[in-house]
Amino acid sequence: MAALETVLDKIDSNLDASLGRLFRLLEIPSISTDSAYASECRTAAEFLAAELVALGFDARVEPTPGHPMIVAKAKGPRPDLPHVLFYGHYDVQPPDPLEFWQTPPFAPRLADAETGKQIVARGVADDKGQLMTFVEACRAFRETGELPCHITILLEGEEETGSPSLPGFLEAHKGELEADLVLVCDTLMWDRATPAITTMLRGLVLEEVVIRGADRDLHSGLFGGAAVNPIHVLAKIIADLHDADGRITLPGFYDGVAELPEEVAEQWAGLRSHEGEFLRQVGLSVPAGEKGRGVLEMVWSRPTCDVNGIIGGYTGAGSKTVLPAEASAKFSFRLVGTQDPAKIAASFRAFVTERLPKDCKVEFVSHGASPAHQLPFGSEALTRAVRALEAEWGKPPVLAGCGGSIPIIGSFKKDLGMDALMIGFGLEDDRVHSPNEKYELSSFHKGTRSWARVLNALAL
Ligand code: BES
Ligand code: MN
Ligand code: MN
Repeated sequence: MAALETVLDKIDSNLDASLGRLFRLLEIPSISTDSAYASECRTAAEFLAAELVALGFDARVEPTPGHPMIVAKAKGPRPDLPHVLFYGHYDVQPPDPLEFWQTPPFAPRLADAETGKQIVARGVADDKGQLMTFVEACRAFRETGELPCHITILLEGEEETGSPSLPGFLEAHKGELEADLVLVCDTLMWDRATPAITTMLRGLVLEEVVIRGADRDLHSGLFGGAAVNPIHVLAKIIADLHDADGRITLPGFYDGVAELPEEVAEQWAGLRSHEGEFLRQVGLSVPAGEKGRGVLEMVWSRPTCDVNGIIGGYTGAGSKTVLPAEASAKFSFRLVGTQDPAKIAASFRAFVTERLPKDCKVEFVSHGASPAHQLPFGSEALTRAVRALEAEWGKPPVLAGCGGSIPIIGSFKKDLGMDALMIGFGLEDDRVHSPNEKYELSSFHKGTRSWARVLNALAL
């Protein structure tokens, strides 16, 4: 195996060409949620598969009922080497509102900022730039010698829509996806100088509720007061979901939610300087969650219930004295620990149904459900990755939680028995899902170097 230093030097000398390849991927508007971009998703998948073939991977684009997957495999030089499965997603969120972008979202550019150069484009931090750090690390190994591990790469195009095709795909391709460990690059660093390994990732339950009353919209003068108003019914149910202390009132909701282990609580308490700044950066000052808990704890290790959207009645110009026939809302629950997504969805549906007046009907639509993930703190892979990141960044990584979700991580554990080591180089201010999304050039460069070190450390 080429000495690690040779591989790291290769990454440095490749940087411009690596950026060029990333830019080509960023130019493809692979927006998964909008079927008008289905062929763009396919183009992105084909581009990546071709890149991997060029690196000597046995790579193919696999169709699914939704957007295609890429499966690529390459062997290390000795059979006894560990086998890792790298997972990433090539799909991106819609770029709207377009008018807030300083330059078009799919015309990537390098911008100069006070803190260094930044790559600006939709999907650069989530997840194209991040997944390319791994691919470019593989390239440097290839161009200087052999891969340090057996590597399977699985890239999907439906992460931003909850990965609907992935559970079935894992089931059908179990044999060829099995590995010792999953590696993921879709999370954040602690700050621009401090890496992080995400050991806890929240799960997600997405539910839509439609409540219907009268069989048509009514005149609110003729019927108001007598006829049930579905917006009021919905609003009352939403209000009942939290108590005065910010706790969620669904029966059984907190089953499987543990308090933090003491050593983790201590590490997080040491990060408290973050506390005030976290809300201040978005123009807020008062934590709105559970009473008595820190904001880091709230977003990393506590479950939530949020209404993401609410629709009903007249929302046009002026006023209209209408008593609407229906109201609907979209809910998301972030899960932690061993909270069971199916039980939570069932408890929520029962909670809503119990509160319905006799004259109302309800319809539920599930938009997906995935459990939380927790990497065991004693894991050998974790210890090795900590040392590898420390060597690159000059300080040990924070063992972080993550408030976001990557729906498939739970299935890797549940269906294939694999833990996930999540190492990402995004920053909190990367504007993921927002206009002017960016990724620091240093994240891209040092992220690639970090993967070379981690792969090397896993193999030793
Ligand atoms: N990469 C993110 C998850 C994430 C967000 C990690 C913030 C670190 C910081 C992922 O692509 C994502 O956006 N997940 C969605 C899932 C949903 C669209 C099903 C999420 O968390 O809302
Ligand atoms: Mn992502
Ligand atoms: Mn995302």
